[in-house]
Amino acid sequence: ALIGKGNHRHYMEKEIHEQPAVIGDTLRSFTDPSSHRLALPDLPFDFAHPETRLQLVACGTAAYACMTARYWFEQLAGIPTSTDIASEYRYRDTPMTSRELGIFVSQSGETADTLAALRHVKAQGRPTLAIVNVAESTAAREADGMLRTLAGPEIGVASTKAFTTQLSTLACLAIGAARERGCLAASREAQLMQAMDEIPARLLQVLDQDQVFRDIASMLAGAGYVLYLGRGAMYPIALEGALKLKEVSYIKAEGYAAGELKHGPIALVDEEVPVIAVAPSDHLFEKTASNLQEVAARGGKVILFSDAAGIAAMGDLPVASVTLPAVDPFVAPILMSLPVQLLAYHTAVAKGTDVDQPRNLAKSVTVE
Ligand code: G6P
Repeated sequence: ALIGKGNHRHYMEKEIHEQPAVIGDTLRSFTDPSSHRLALPDLPFDFAHPETRLQLVACGTAAYACMTARYWFEQLAGIPTSTDIASEYRYRDTPMTSRELGIFVSQSGETADTLAALRHVKAQGRPTLAIVNVAESTAAREADGMLRTLAGPEIGVASTKAFTTQLSTLACLAIGAARERGCLAASREAQLMQAMDEIPARLLQVLDQDQVFRDIASMLAGAGYVLYLGRGAMYPIALEGALKLKEVSYIKAEGYAAGELKHGPIALVDEEVPVIAVAPSDHLFEKTASNLQEVAARGGKVILFSDAAGIAAMGDLPVASVTLPAVDPFVAPILMSLPVQLLAYHTAVAKGTDVDQPRNLAKSVTVE
């Protein structure tokens, strides 16, 4: 490849460490430099209409960015939002309403199923927006509008910086939509922009804790099965954490909504099973905490990623924990993406797998 790894062992590690910079670049591209207010390019869609609906479609990691964004569009902008994986969406003939926008998220802009889903929406005469990392891609060309993530070239097969720049872009879009719909007070908007602005600095604090993730990774390396739990906007991050872990370390890992624990996965929990909770101390924390007590009661090894308040609340129940900076809950999913990437990376290194080229996986799936 033309792009070097610098002083990193793998592209995945390099790309994880690039995130403060590329998220900063992406956020700046959507911000007016003098007023610090959000300034999105013109989009082919009017979010203000009361019947507005969104359909977000993608594959793989990008689909988890869509699932996360659903919480933002619903909670901040009050827009009914559906998300789907492209391979299902393209064949399901979901009826679209007359005020519905199709949003397609893709690093490459070339994923076959995502393109087919985009064409399916266009064929129904509905507007389309592509969120892509490659500006000259097919998705960018075919969609009515485009927002670009400024992740730069991503070489590692398992997506890292593309994911968090997708999240950053979708968060900006949700703020813009909320403003257009008149449901965002100027003071709250300023607060959100401030929280977004601070993300790169907070991410550097997470990267500084590299050794903590190495230590936890050495615990995970021997595990046969790992369960990731999260609630609310942390649920898709739990899914992404499990996906990263299986992609690069080949450990059988599942992400679950914490509330679903007793509807299945708890049957698998015993002394051998690490259960990783992504749980900042937000309005859902206590619910997740009680799920973790159920895990601990069955001998499961709880690993907690939270902020200082969350870690303190759990006392000595977790066998390991990582204290993350406390941030506005709106931006917490972006912050929480790094710990799950770092843990997958270091677990893969501990196991000696081919981190940048995991077996059987491709960077871009351009055939169905
Ligand atoms: C492949 C890659 C994933 C990626 C997915 C979607 O499976 O290995 O990392 O998330 O494709 O790719 P896209 O380019 O559409 O974001």
